[in-house]
Amino acid sequence: MNKELKYLSGFGNEFASEDPRCPGALPVGQNNPQKCPYGLYAEQLSGTAFTAPREENKRTWFYRIKPSVCRGLHERIKTNNLTHEWKIADPNPLRWNAFDLPTRQDLPVDFVEGLHTLCGAGDSRSRHGVAIHIYLCNASMKNSAFYNSDGDLLIVPQLGNLLITTEFGKLNCEPNEICVIQQGMKFSVNVLGPSRGYILEVFDNHFQLPNLGPIGANGLAAPRDFLTPVAHFEDLEEEFKIHCKYQGELFVSTQNHSPFDVVAWHGNYVPYKYNLNNFMVINSVSFDHCDPSIFTVLTCPSLKPGTAIADFVIFPPRWSVQENTFRPPYYHRNCMSEFMGLIKGRYEAKEDGFQAGGGSLHTMMTPHGPDVKCFESASNADLKPEKIAEGTMAFMFETSLCMGLTSWAAESKKLDTNYYNCWKGLKKYFNGNFKV
Ligand code: FE2
Repeated sequence: MNKELKYLSGFGNEFASEDPRCPGALPVGQNNPQKCPYGLYAEQLSGTAFTAPREENKRTWFYRIKPSVCRGLHERIKTNNLTHEWKIADPNPLRWNAFDLPTRQDLPVDFVEGLHTLCGAGDSRSRHGVAIHIYLCNASMKNSAFYNSDGDLLIVPQLGNLLITTEFGKLNCEPNEICVIQQGMKFSVNVLGPSRGYILEVFDNHFQLPNLGPIGANGLAAPRDFLTPVAHFEDLEEEFKIHCKYQGELFVSTQNHSPFDVVAWHGNYVPYKYNLNNFMVINSVSFDHCDPSIFTVLTCPSLKPGTAIADFVIFPPRWSVQENTFRPPYYHRNCMSEFMGLIKGRYEAKEDGFQAGGGSLHTMMTPHGPDVKCFESASNADLKPEKIAEGTMAFMFETSLCMGLTSWAAESKKLDTNYYNCWKGLKKYFNGNFKV
C-alpha cells in the first residue's frame, strides 16, 4: 500500500503523481507528446465537457503501459442485483434491519457481485438522477476491475476495510472513512473478510464541498483532509475482466493486461477519501436545533439554487448545548427524501431498532422524528451541556428526487414491518387551560 499524499501544483487543485520507479514519467509542458517517456501511452479521462467553465472543468491525463481501448467487447451479465428498475412507490416510513453478510467462504462474493440497488430516481440516459446501493461481500476481486459509466459513487464502508486499487494508485478506506470514485474511473476492491457498506450514486454532477456562507473560511469538511492516491502501476500480462455499469446494467469484457498500469498522471479529476473524524461540527450554542444541512460533508448540486441532487450528511459526536430546546431532531416532513444509515453506535433519535448496517427511508413528505422513548427522555432531561453521539456515526443521503424502491428492497426480509409503531405511543399532553 502506497502512502497517500497530495501534490498541489499551479492553479485550481491540480494534482500530479508519478510512480517513483519511473522518475520523469510525467511529460513536461505537454499533455500528449508524440512519444511519451518510457514508451507510455497518453490517455485523457474527461469528467466534464471539454468546454465546461475553467473553474468546473475536470480531466486527468494518464501515462500508461497500454491504453484502455485494448480490451474485448462487453457482454451483458444478467445475474446481478444492480438495477435502475426502481418502480415501487411506497410513501410509508421504511426501515431495514442490518443486511445479511455473505459469510460462507466456500461461496465467495466479491464487491461487484455483492452490489444491490435499494432505491433510486431518474435516468442515467438523461444524466439526471440518484441511486442508493448496498454492498455485501466477503471476497476480493481477482484480476478484475469495475467502472461506472452512469455517475459518481460515494462509498461508505460500515463493516470491513476496503483496500481499493484504482488507476491513480491505492486507497485504503476503513469504516468511518468515505471514498468517492468518480464516473469512469476503474477500480478493484480487496477485502479482509465479510464487508458491508452503503453507496450513493449521482448522475447529474460531481460531488463538491458545500459553500460555507456566514460560517466563514473554516468549518465542516476542510479541503486539506481529502486524500488522493499516488501513482502505482503493475505490469502484468494476464487475463483481466473489466466490469462496467452502463445504463443500470452490468457488463463485462476481457483484456490481457492489468488495467492498473498507470505510471504517472496529472489532473484534477481524481478519486479521493475522507476521514469523518476530521469534520468540524458547527452547532447551536444559544437555542433551537440547526437543520441537518449544517452537517453536510459533500453535496451534488442541482440546477435549482440551494437544492441538491444529493447531500451526504453526518451526525458525528458533538456537544449539545442549547437552552430551552428540545434537543433531538425535530418532527419533520420534508420536500426532500431522506435515507439514513448507521456506521456504528446508536443514533440519538432512535436508540432502539435502527441497526448499524441497516437503513431507513423517509421519502417525500413522509412524517418522521424521534420515537416515544427519545421524546419522553429528551423532554424531561436536564438542559446541561451534553456530549452526544459518542461512539456513533449515523449519516444521511438526502435527495431532492422522489425515490422508488427496487424489488430487492421492497421484498427484503430485512424490512421492519413494525417500524411505524415506534411513534404509536406518543401521548396527548394538550392542556386547554394553558395560560401565557
Ligand atoms: Fe428529516
